[in-house]
Amino acid sequence: MTVRRPLIAANWKMNGDRELVTMMAATLQCIDSSHEILICPPVIFLSDFPKSTQYRLGAQNVSSEKAGAFTGEISADMIRAAGAEYVILGHSERRCLFAETDATVLQKAQQALRVGITPIICFGETLSERQQEKTMWVLAQHLDAVYAAQPDLLAESVIAYEPVWAIGTGLTATPEQAQQVHSFIRQHLARINADAAAKVRILYGGSVNADNWPTLFSQPDIDGALVGGASLKPAEFAAICQMAKE
Ligand code: PGA
Repeated sequence: MTVRRPLIAANWKMNGDRELVTMMAATLQCIDSSHEILICPPVIFLSDFPKSTQYRLGAQNVSSEKAGAFTGEISADMIRAAGAEYVILGHSERRCLFAETDATVLQKAQQALRVGITPIICFGETLSERQQEKTMWVLAQHLDAVYAAQPDLLAESVIAYEPVWAIGTGLTATPEQAQQVHSFIRQHLARINADAAAKVRILYGGSVNADNWPTLFSQPDIDGALVGGASLKPAEFAAICQMAKE
């Protein structure tokens, strides 16, 4: 059986301040968890986190370009220098609000890998796609656009399944709905590389909190969480990090 180390990732989005950095770092310093814990704050706060073996750091975005005249952009080398080991890519907010496509995600993933940063690539269906029973079809299109286009990415990335209708809405996929999609993703990717598909970590994201996490996490193909709102509350995020996989 393949053992996948759970990853619990915090996506602060455009929230937080130095006080939250201090509180989160102090809270995580005291917990006992065998999971990998990741904090993705706004990039400006990365270097404010004290170095620790208790957590890793990530960014929420990176430029698709290496360097040069791209006002406002931040390169993979720069986020790496600030302490990022991961980067969230293709989040639905980036896709919807900033017109990011799978092609952009692929370019950004290439930049991240060039400097040894692991991409966490997000995929999910909208409510209307789910209602029209197109969930698996939509996911297959996105997965192929990224992983069939660059098969070696599968062994070097993390996937996050985030149903768009569950993000920040308080609605969550049921554990059964989430497991069905996670299992579909793994099976679909097995056609590209069965060994890498068995090993890739697939996180669930969308209104995860300390109450709903135990039942979601008990599903066999849910290997961790991408937590938004609840990751801004150090005690609640710490509780999620400490929940064991049943
Ligand atoms: P949420 O956000 O937990 O607030 O729904 C998750 C995410 O967008 O990554």
